[in-house]
Amino acid sequence: MADSSLPGFWDQRYLDGIMPWDAGGVPEALRRYACELPPGARILVPGCGSAYELYHLLENGFDALAIDFSPPAVARAQASMGRFADRVIEADFFVFEQGAPFDVMYERAFLCALPRKTWAAYARRTAQLLAPGGAIAGFFFFDDNPKGPPFGTSEQELHALLDPLFEREQDEPVSDSIPVFKGKERWQVWRRRE
Ligand SMILES: C[S@@+](CC[C@H](N)C(=O)[O-])C[C@H]1O[C@@H](n2cnc3c(N)ncnc32)[C@H](O)[C@@H]1O
Repeated sequence: MADSSLPGFWDQRYLDGIMPWDAGGVPEALRRYACELPPGARILVPGCGSAYELYHLLENGFDALAIDFSPPAVARAQASMGRFADRVIEADFFVFEQGAPFDVMYERAFLCALPRKTWAAYARRTAQLLAPGGAIAGFFFFDDNPKGPPFGTSEQELHALLDPLFEREQDEPVSDSIPVFKGKERWQVWRRRE
């Protein structure tokens, strides 16, 4: 079975233009959350894909950086980024070194793109990339289908994964989901424990 932890899995989908996860714009919950953030906050967008959110964040004065390990994804994002093209870099979330620590890591369709065997490493790596008091903010996908991507989680499993390192601060329904996530995603903010 194809392995979504490898760039080639994603390269093919971008090259074929088969991207059912692509929202085509900036989700409303992120727009609202960005208004609450301190000016100039440092924000990481991992597994950025088309990176619509990056442009919005940079335009609003945040110090944002987007990474993706798939070259066609990076090319796609850079092509629409205009003067901000250098804020999208090709890098693997688990090993890249630029720019940390971040105040916020924006999560959308990234955790659910990763095989479940890598989720503990995602939690540890996120805590490592965030500054003390930093937060993961974004969309979490809830589903019990064992197959993926997208790999869904449950309330219980997500708490078991993140509670040791983070405390949940926000948990809200999402009104503008695209079909693949509709009724199965929630906007959440998890603050890194000191
Ligand atoms: C389902 S797509 C979501 C893209 C984007 N976040 C969005 O909401 O449209 C998952 C993305 O994560 C990227 N990705 C997966 N594992 C990665 C890793 N270890 N480092 C960087 N990017 C990764 C893939 O290349 C792909 O672009």
